[in-house]
Amino acid sequence: MKVLLVGSGAREHTLGWALCRSRELDELLSLPGNPGLAELGPVITGVDPTDPGAVAAVARLHRADLVVVGPEAPLAAGVVDALTRTGIPAFGPSRAAARLEASKTFAKEVMAAAGVPTAAAETFEDPDAACARLRSFDGPYVVKADGLAAGKGVLVTEDRDAAVAWVGRCFGGGFGEAGARVVIEEYLEGPELSVFAVCSGEDALVLEPARDYKRLANGDRGPNTGGMGSYSPVELPPGLIGEVTERVILPTLRRLAADGSPYVGFLYAGLALTREGPKVIEFNVRLGDPETQVVLPRLETDLLGVIVAALENRLSSASLDWSPRAAVNVVLAAAGYPDAPRRGDVIGGLEAAASLDDVLVFHAGTARDENGRLVTAGGRVLSVVGLGDDLAQARSRAYEAAERIRWPGVQYRTDIAAPPPAR
Ligand code: AMP
Ligand code: GLY
Repeated sequence: MKVLLVGSGAREHTLGWALCRSRELDELLSLPGNPGLAELGPVITGVDPTDPGAVAAVARLHRADLVVVGPEAPLAAGVVDALTRTGIPAFGPSRAAARLEASKTFAKEVMAAAGVPTAAAETFEDPDAACARLRSFDGPYVVKADGLAAGKGVLVTEDRDAAVAWVGRCFGGGFGEAGARVVIEEYLEGPELSVFAVCSGEDALVLEPARDYKRLANGDRGPNTGGMGSYSPVELPPGLIGEVTERVILPTLRRLAADGSPYVGFLYAGLALTREGPKVIEFNVRLGDPETQVVLPRLETDLLGVIVAALENRLSSASLDWSPRAAVNVVLAAAGYPDAPRRGDVIGGLEAAASLDDVLVFHAGTARDENGRLVTAGGRVLSVVGLGDDLAQARSRAYEAAERIRWPGVQYRTDIAAPPPAR
């Protein structure tokens, strides 16, 4: 099979790496890809991945048998709809189903109709009303831009003035169109968990869960980021994943199907494990980044086969096998991340890191300069993954590798998967 992979982050590099392990794969193309994906197959540049017509034209031109879409923006733009109209199988939700991530208000409506446990929330289209609501209770305050803001549109704070200022930032255009509506939410207390499922209509196969670290600095301090690290497996009470499947994933899928927007693709439930049980913080219509980097290396089943089974409506007879080994991912970010990541810093030591046993290095914000040197080209630059018999061993391998990689101002947390859990 010839597969076209849409996206350019470390999640997509990991997806590409996993797809390449399949005997059914003949060629992997990526759009727009990154220097890591370029080692796995041709990359197509100069095409906007969020332009549905352009992506469909590329898939047709290259005679792709299947398109796998990694990030949310192309999904929310309707790339899968365009491919489906062209007759090319595509794995990912339609534009209508992708509203589960693209609009927090829509997600709340689906959850309410499906009886899925989540934080109480109200949507505001007017800054004064939103600020009045904030003044009506004591914190903590959770304020979110309604639309897609790359994980950066959320503020969780005890400080009411900061919450009020965030409302101003959303309505003031700080997150573009995404901030035209603002959601104020009940604060959920408890450890977080990321649960992913491969979905097809009303069927789902749940993947091994992972935990990620959203704050920039050790001890969960500093600003929210796209994610600074992750690990899997996560020690959980028995029965929890069954409960999440029955109370969160399946009812959501049934609701979307009943509404005429059946969901096909990866679904991500970001959960808070509260004293009253798991509650949804958010849905994403894709795999998590940086969680994918620790989940897919543990998957022993052929990922391409699972995706094809989902597209052919055969998920109910499929199953997944997992390695008992552990994986830890340390994200290396550019100087200035998350506000103003610096580009063009030369990355050293990558081969030395990647040559270590049980280490995988996935690219995200990297590029080749005019001399062919690898340089920083985005906020999160590399994901360094260590594998081991347990989390401690996986962690020490990840950090041994991370220490070999250098560029001016490189930032990473040193407490990913540290015992006792840093959260
Ligand atoms: P989101 O982009 O909605 O996933 O939010 C980013 C992060 O903010 C989450 O991973 C949580 O750490 C935090 N967060 C979001 N909503 C809530 C909530 N209702 N209660 C507590 N923390 C939250
Ligand atoms: N790990 C957070 C995200 O992918 O949104």
